[in-house]
Amino acid sequence: MTIFAGLESIVKQNCPLADYSWYRLGGPADWLVCPTTIEQLQDVLRRCSDNNLGVRILGNGSNLLISDEGVRGVVVKLEGEAFRQFAFEGTMLTVAAGADLQRLIQESVKKGLGGLESLAGIPGTIGGAIKMNAGGRFGDIGTCVQTVQVMDAQGAIFEKAKPELVFDYRQVNITAKVILGATLHLIEGDAEEMLKTVKEVWIYKKNTQPLDTRNAGCIFKNPRGMSAGAMIDRAGLKGTKIGGAVISEKHANFITTVKGCKSADVMALIEKIRQTVRDQFDIELEQEIEIW
Ligand code: EPU
Repeated sequence: MTIFAGLESIVKQNCPLADYSWYRLGGPADWLVCPTTIEQLQDVLRRCSDNNLGVRILGNGSNLLISDEGVRGVVVKLEGEAFRQFAFEGTMLTVAAGADLQRLIQESVKKGLGGLESLAGIPGTIGGAIKMNAGGRFGDIGTCVQTVQVMDAQGAIFEKAKPELVFDYRQVNITAKVILGATLHLIEGDAEEMLKTVKEVWIYKKNTQPLDTRNAGCIFKNPRGMSAGAMIDRAGLKGTKIGGAVISEKHANFITTVKGCKSADVMALIEKIRQTVRDQFDIELEQEIEIW
């Protein structure tokens, strides 16, 4: 523990990570570190940099598959109050990266501030949602993000603002190690109408996705102008099973798990889908989920 001497209260060595991901799969991290302040986070990142330790930032684990072997180096989880706070000022929402996206949607709608309703039902932290420009057929988060505050691997803090900040389908041009927070520009409107939209988006998801299972959302990005789910479906792969991993009958871009499933099963099924779609449609599917 010499690397993290003095930080014992926020560091766990050889820490099982399965409970930190929605899949509930995967091995341990060499270190799991949960800083409670920005200064502590800076300290941790500098020590990692000085010791050549790789660092990964864990959000809500809802778009993540952790390998059975686990993760070498350091996993950082931003869960202290400093990383979860948010404040409204007029139509601007200033929010720290660890805040829960669904809670923010609720709070915004209550105030009659719109812009986030299309993200109803997407589990995750604001940081994670920004990192992958979370969204779906009803919109994405990038539309209302104005600035993003980031920290680099040496602990220096920067801000990136539009138009330099560019969101695209499931991506944003942020390369810094950590997203610390953001400002979002919301739009005043009718809270009742917004609530109606939130409900409609939820119902659509509930009707089309296997929400009552262990999964990590869509496995693959949609190729331009096409639906990965529809392709996997057309390839006849629904219900295909490897070990404890199964392609959902409800939405073919979801892999669900049954008891005894290993991360390796999910990975093997991902490969099988990729291969089959390549053979049948000559299209290379790109993963949407993170694999550690
Ligand atoms: N479809 C099929 N079979 C399937 C699945 C879909 O034929 O098994 C067809 C549907 O009938 C529909 C079309 O494919 O005509 C598109 O399906 P859907 O409306 O479910 O949207 P999607 O493109 O598959 C996207 C996002 C989802 C998001 C939904 C709804 C991607 C990769 N997926 O799915 O996001 O929830 O729109 O907004 O962009 C995620 O990112 O994890 C995710 C689940």
